[in-house]
Parts: sequence; C-alpha cells; structure tokens
Amino acid sequence: MNIRLGVNIDHVATLRNARGEAHPDPYEVAKKVMKSGADSITIHLREDRRHIKDRDLKILSKNRSIPLNLEIASNNEIINIALKNKPNFICIVPEKRNEVTTEGGLQLKKNKNKLKNILEKFNKKKIRTSLFINPSIADVKISKDINTKCIEFHMGKISNLVKNNKKYSKELKKIKLCCKYARSLNLEVHAGHGIDYKTAKILKSIKEIEEFNIGHFIIGESITLGINKTIKKFKKIIK
Ligand code: PXP
Repeated sequence: MNIRLGVNIDHVATLRNARGEAHPDPYEVAKKVMKSGADSITIHLREDRRHIKDRDLKILSKNRSIPLNLEIASNNEIINIALKNKPNFICIVPEKRNEVTTEGGLQLKKNKNKLKNILEKFNKKKIRTSLFINPSIADVKISKDINTKCIEFHMGKISNLVKNNKKYSKELKKIKLCCKYARSLNLEVHAGHGIDYKTAKILKSIKEIEEFNIGHFIIGESITLGINKTIKKFKKIIK
C-alpha cells in the first residue's frame, strides 16, 4: 500500500505573519511541497486566524491540482467558510483559544450529535471527512456511528514519549489495537501530531495507517535541509 504524506503548512504562515508581510508565501511553498512528492497539503483555519488566513484558503482551494485537507473546529462560521471553499478533504479538530497547538482529540461522547450533523453536511458535498481523535476504542466506535469516512489518531502522547526517550510500548500497543479496530469497521486510518523521523519510523510498522499528516517538524527541518530533501526523506521512511 502506498502510504500518503500530507504536509501541514500552517507554520509557513506563522513565519510570514511574524513580519506582517507576504513572505514566505504558503501557496508557493505548497506548490514546492507537492513537487517534492507530498500527497496533499493540510491547513488549519483557526478561529483566531493565528496562521492560515481566509485568503490562503481561497487561493489554495482554487488550485484543484493541489489536494487540500482543511482542518476546522466545529464552529459555524468556519464550517460555512469550509463549505464555500470546498476543499478535497475536511478534518474536524478540537480548538481551544489559548492552546499553543491542538492538545488532544475531539471529545466525541459529549459532542456526538453536533459532530454527526457537521459530518453530514460535508458527506453530502462528497468532501472526504475525518475526525481527529485520541487512540481509544470507544472513540473509534463513536466515529463509525456518526458516519465519518476517516479518523486521524492524535499521536501527541507517543511522540512525546519517544522524544523524551521514555518507554512507549504500552502506548504503541494501544494505538495498534485502535488502528486494527478502526480498519475492521471500514474506517480509513490517518496519523498526525508531533511526528518526527523517529516516530514516523515507529508508526510506519502499523499497516492500517494510510496517511500521515506532519507539519511543525517538516517546516522546522526544512530550514536546514530544505523542503525538497525533507519531504523525500519522510516519503522514504513511510514507504
Ligand atoms: N493533524 C492534525 C489533525 C493537526 O491538528 C495537526 C496540527 O496540530 C497536525 C496533524 C500536524 O501536527 P504537527 O504540526 O505537530 O506535525
């Protein structure tokens, strides 16, 4: 199976916004990322627009040769913007105003009906749907019940354990079980958050994972290695 690499370019926009000018341009970077062998581009239009702006989404979604995965919170304003711009894929994520980054998966039990309604809107428009969830059997089951096409497991916990040279086998075992269960329910399995070379090497042994979405590490690594080489290196790791 060809494991896909989605590259999150939010932090290209972070760098641009630091100067309030136009460089580096996420659209130009997205084109280079695709040329380097990535399979899709991921962006997160946050409520506070701290990195990606509405204009970035508009420009990226107009270029239909770039498969675009848009991450959104379950917020009506953002949902309507997403429906208008029609990205290829949508991933619903939790969002807290003061967090530095997405801290965990969605609270599915609490928000089941709300999420089901949102998923229906995108399913109707034939936009591939995904839910960003914690590796939990109960959450996989709810995801299936509310009709998502894919799930993306939040890999923050295992990534932190690996980075801090702590034991991660228990967490890996849990992730493997959840991936197997999700696949048995016919859900497409993705992985994201905090992934670097080391975690990618570990996670690629899980044959159910069809897509990795990686952002911060790729953009950071590109400063020294260049975006082209970094993406090629990741593609080789997850092959
Ligand atoms: N996948 C999802 C759903 C995300 O929200 C994010 C950003 O937090 C990522 C992947 C990329 O995470 P990172 O930037 O840590 O690689």
